[in-house]
Amino acid sequence: MSNRYIQHYESLLNHLESQSLRRKLKISDSPSAPVMRINGQEMLTFCSNDYLGLANHPEIASAMIEGAKMYGGGSGASHMISGHHQAHDQLERALASTQAKHIPHVKGLFFSTGYMANMAAITGISAGLGENQVMSIFSEELNHASLIDGVRLANKQNSAKVYVYPHQDLVALEKLLSEDRNHFKLIVTDGVFSMDGSIAPANQLLTLAEKYDALLMIDDAHGFGVLGNDGYGILSLFNIDSHDALASRIIYVGTLGKAAGLSGAFIAAHEHLTEWIMQKGRAYIYTTASPPSIAHGLLKSLKLINQAEHRNALRENIAYWRQHLKLNKWQLIESSTAIQPIVIGRNEDALQVADALYKKNIWVPAIRPPTVPAGTARLRITLSASHTTEQIDQLINAISEVEHAL
Ligand SMILES: Cc1ncc(COP(=O)(O)O)c(C=O)c1O
Repeated sequence: MSNRYIQHYESLLNHLESQSLRRKLKISDSPSAPVMRINGQEMLTFCSNDYLGLANHPEIASAMIEGAKMYGGGSGASHMISGHHQAHDQLERALASTQAKHIPHVKGLFFSTGYMANMAAITGISAGLGENQVMSIFSEELNHASLIDGVRLANKQNSAKVYVYPHQDLVALEKLLSEDRNHFKLIVTDGVFSMDGSIAPANQLLTLAEKYDALLMIDDAHGFGVLGNDGYGILSLFNIDSHDALASRIIYVGTLGKAAGLSGAFIAAHEHLTEWIMQKGRAYIYTTASPPSIAHGLLKSLKLINQAEHRNALRENIAYWRQHLKLNKWQLIESSTAIQPIVIGRNEDALQVADALYKKNIWVPAIRPPTVPAGTARLRITLSASHTTEQIDQLINAISEVEHAL
């Protein structure tokens, strides 16, 4: 049975397929780990964001079971109604304390996902500024889709004025900031850029925010748990100090489905900023709170994040990989983080390389536009503390063979 819609969408899907842009799901029937069973086949994986190897940590699994025994299954309602449980409250305090060294009067707000945290933060902070007042938003070119969507919604919903500045180009950003006449300004950036692993210059951005009297929002999805001596993310890396008045301009977003090994996200900012996002962020208000057992599990995960052993193992793996990989045709992007992409170029070539590796039982995703700019399709290799040196050698050898053969 079909109608013109079914036929139309079928032809759209076929068009995607013909451009090598149709995404396909692979089913895993084992926990997230370096070796996973995918469709019944054992695969060596370099694709998760489980940078510290916590996603399958027994203490987190036990904490979630304990949480389920204490609080049951679902939260029952949105946070603003009856869904905000003791575990959520404890977690928000613990999350805020991870940024207390950096942000004065910090308050945390927990979300079910990073996508929602970004939507709520950007739309909330730009809402209801006063009569005839709108926010000017300065958004980094390579920002994550959830930031882009938040900015687009703020533009539609709150008439925010939007500028996109080129990747890491502080001169261009400063020019835009200096020319903008709005009273309210917000700079929005990824902390670690998710598709190339580079780190935003947080201290220089903060200086610009101070100079042009703007707020600075940093989405540290790939930095929280990994960067800094305490693992608490990009603000620790740059030693940003809460005694410095300019730090009250920061809206920090950390996600909890990557290095923290579970799911969710949080905002940490001066209490007045956080409170406004809570009051106005529709992606916070109009959604059921995630199960309290997840918050209970995350309290355990925060303790594990703070232990240096996982981060040290990750750092050693990154150094080993960069030292031993030798490429001829392709380019390993400069990156000191767990995200270690190799740029291949054309969509079909990147897919062909990923397929060739897959045939060798190694799973590395090929990332194509619109996630990355056209002509820069790439393998997005991610390393974890739980990869062994032998597994990294296996990847290096397989890549050399495929590069040689193609
Ligand atoms: C930079 C960045 N921000 C936000 C998100 C969204 O976080 P979540 O997966 O928790 O929705 C992701 C990835 O998923 C990301 O890479």
